[in-house]
Amino acid sequence: MASFEDRLLETRLRLGRRVVEHIRHGTSDLADRPMRNDVSVYIDPARHAAERQKLFRETPLVACLSRELPGPGSFRTFDETGVPIVVVRGADGGVRAFLNICIHRGARLVRETGGQAKLFTCWFHGWSYGLDGKLAAAPEAERFDDALCGADHLVSVPAAERFGLVFVQATPGSTMDIDAHLGTFGAELELLQLEQAEPVKSGQLPVSANWKYALDTYGEGYHFAALHKQTLAPFFRNDITVYDRFGPHHRILFVGREQEAWLDLPEREWGVEHRIGGIHYIFPNTILFAGAVAPGKGYYTTFRHFPGETPGETVTHKTIYAPKGVHSEEYRSEVEAAYDATAHVVETEDYVVAAQGWANLGALPPGSSVVYGRQEMALQNVHRAISEAIGMPLPTVAPRLEAAE
Ligand code: FES
Ligand SMILES: [Fe+2]
Repeated sequence: MASFEDRLLETRLRLGRRVVEHIRHGTSDLADRPMRNDVSVYIDPARHAAERQKLFRETPLVACLSRELPGPGSFRTFDETGVPIVVVRGADGGVRAFLNICIHRGARLVRETGGQAKLFTCWFHGWSYGLDGKLAAAPEAERFDDALCGADHLVSVPAAERFGLVFVQATPGSTMDIDAHLGTFGAELELLQLEQAEPVKSGQLPVSANWKYALDTYGEGYHFAALHKQTLAPFFRNDITVYDRFGPHHRILFVGREQEAWLDLPEREWGVEHRIGGIHYIFPNTILFAGAVAPGKGYYTTFRHFPGETPGETVTHKTIYAPKGVHSEEYRSEVEAAYDATAHVVETEDYVVAAQGWANLGALPPGSSVVYGRQEMALQNVHRAISEAIGMPLPTVAPRLEAAE
């Protein structure tokens, strides 16, 4: 059995060779054909409701990375799905999640967004709970049922930790099979060693567009040359994608211009350890991008997209991490600057076009469609996977609407 390091290097080299072949031949990974998708997929309230239920309540979602719950007693709230949840690392090191609702009379139990605790005490009447969710003490407990303390419990929600990622499924009493959900993608996520990644900066990027429209902007490099002419196009080619699908999940590499030099270099001089990271998409809503502020100074950033009540509201939760921890204050400021730079591109370019484009879809005649090219294969597969997961087939697309005579 190959060691972890061998497997990591081999995977990066294999991807690097695909990059080089595409540069050499002017090719790219492509879908078999383009795909049309009815615009109602982005607008229809019934579809939106089904997505909120099936994908955001009944599917495992990334709540955070492991080091955001660094030790026993670490907690974070997870309200992004609309269900108030607190995620806790227990005394045994395991991760658990509970509805953030006091079982006495329903007050919000944990009011900080994160921190460290031995007990959670409700601010209404002072009931307190252990890290395992059990009621530990209640003032005047004898005036309630005898069995109250030690027996009553916060309502638990499925939670699991895999490959440095903490997953939560926002429905109490539901079954979550995280290994089945990740499938073969787990082995790819493992290579990222996310358990070592230290959070540096977080924020929220709201956008008045459907969550899938926002998500689509992370799935293709085709728009770099036009939309990101000044920002990304100087660094990335827009015409080459290296794409691998793992069930509903995928990995995409966009090709950096400096990789063109690889054609004349032996493989050991490519520096794949610094240059092969790419985008990992964890179905249904999480993008994990691996970038670098300088060779050997990498970062990971997550973009977790959450739909609002209506089809036209989305909030993207973005966090940036130092993959092996923050080893100097200089590096910390560089990673913070990378957060600001990537957030700026998203806010001033992608999400401006997304808000405008999404609103325009509603002005098109019924039966209109958008089209994903062969190079936009990630979008094709994501929309297919979403429609399958919610059990609503993609609408049959009408033939092109003809211009009026
Ligand atoms: S509602 Fe929490 S102690 Fe009463
Ligand atoms: Fe973009």
